[in-house]
Formats: sequence, C-alpha cells, structure tokens
Amino acid sequence: MTDKTAPIGVFDSGVGGISVLRELVRQMPGENYIFYGDSANAPYGTRPLEEIRELSMVVAEYLISRGVKALVVACNTATSACVRILRNKYPDMPIVGLEPAVKPATLSHPGGNIAILATEMTLKQPKFNALMDRYKDQAHLIPVPASELVEFVERGELDSPRLEATIQMILNRSLDTAPDAIVLGCTHFPFVRKAIEKVAHQSDVFDGSEGAAHYCKTLLEEKDLCNPAEADGDVEIMNSSGDVDKIMLCFELLDSE
Ligand code: DGL
Repeated sequence: MTDKTAPIGVFDSGVGGISVLRELVRQMPGENYIFYGDSANAPYGTRPLEEIRELSMVVAEYLISRGVKALVVACNTATSACVRILRNKYPDMPIVGLEPAVKPATLSHPGGNIAILATEMTLKQPKFNALMDRYKDQAHLIPVPASELVEFVERGELDSPRLEATIQMILNRSLDTAPDAIVLGCTHFPFVRKAIEKVAHQSDVFDGSEGAAHYCKTLLEEKDLCNPAEADGDVEIMNSSGDVDKIMLCFELLDSE
C-alpha cells in the first residue's frame, strides 16, 4: 500500500519547475516534496528528442527510487518527450504533465490573437500540434519559439535591459501585431512574466501551473493518497549542477510571488 506521507516528486530541466512547485505548495501545503532540477543539462528544449527523453527518464526514475507517491513533470518540454512512456511504465502512479494553457486563453479571448511562448521542442511535438488542432477554430493561435529566455531564468537574471531586449526580439520574430493574450508554455517563463508583460504591453498572461497543481490534487484525492498530516510539509530541493547558488536561487524563486 502506498504511504500517504511519502513525498511528491517534481522535476524540470532546471529551476523553472519551481513555478509549478510553488503552486503545488500553495494548493497542498501539507504534502512533502522533492524537487529535482537538472540544471547541469539545461536547456532541454534545444536538444534532440531522444536525448530529452533519456535525461527525463533518469531523473524520473531517480525520484521513483526515492519512494515518491506521485510525479509531476514540471516541464512542458519533458512532458511532450516522456509523459506517455512514464504512464505506460508506472500505470499505478499519479503522473501529472505540463501543457501550455491554450484552453483558458482561448476561452477568455475567442477569436483573439493568442501568442504561445514555448521552447522549440515543445512547439514541434505532436502533443502540441494536437492541442493547436483542438483550439485552432476558436482563436488565432501563434506559436512563438522563446528558448532564449530559459537561460536568463537559469542564471537568475529576471529583470534587466538585456532581458527586455531579448523578449522584444523574440516577439518581433513571430508577431506582426500585439497579441490579445500570452500563454507561458514553459515553466521557466513565469519568473520573467513581469518583463514579458512590460515589453508586450499585455497583462492577460496564462500559466499552466495552477491547472497542473489542481489536477495533481484531484488525482491524489481520487486515489485517497493525500497526506493526512496537519502541519506544513517539507520541501527538499536538489539540483544536478551541484551548485549551491542554484539551490539558493530555487529557494528564492519558491518564495517569490
Ligand atoms: N522548463 C522547461 C519547459 O517547461 C524548458 C526549459 C528547457 O528548455 O530546458 O518547457
């Protein structure tokens, strides 16, 4: 029988998945968590699919070997590369993936221009194309490759003229007009959300972490796996870079609003 007090394993290619962890802790403060950021191998989004799959499986299996009761793939890129494989291999484990929040953006802006910022790899995958197909008649969906932003977040550069210039360049590359809404299709991007809002003159920004955390909670409830403890749970942060500054950055991001 699964131990209800066991931690939830959460992983990302780097520090970005902390945006999902933050939301998980907000919705389920009584749970214990192990977060693994693979910053030594970030970014994933510019690597070949097979490599992303291998890297993601190593991290997922490490967390499973630590006895986690559920797994959250807190990375859109790793989700498109391996969530199906993980679900086939561990059919009894609740496994949550991340998907760009195209549905809520489309529902709020029917017929509008919706820019979806994500890594090249996420935008190339059949999973994303299926999502586009589902909503393409309801709004004008514009994929915007934005991998450059991952490295800004990895080094903790969340507010700088160089960041704003890069966002401007990324938007100019794909958009002719200002979008009606922006979807953050990469878990690193919520940490540069303010800069994106400023450059795009757009405050209607959608982030998939709230929906993913809610889905995780629903799965745990359905399987009767919620931690019954009343006190707040523990959060263990691990990072493959072995860099203490990276771990400190993760804690700062976790506490950020
Ligand atoms: N955080 C990851 C995502 O949500 C991508 C970062 C990377 O390219 O490594 O897609």
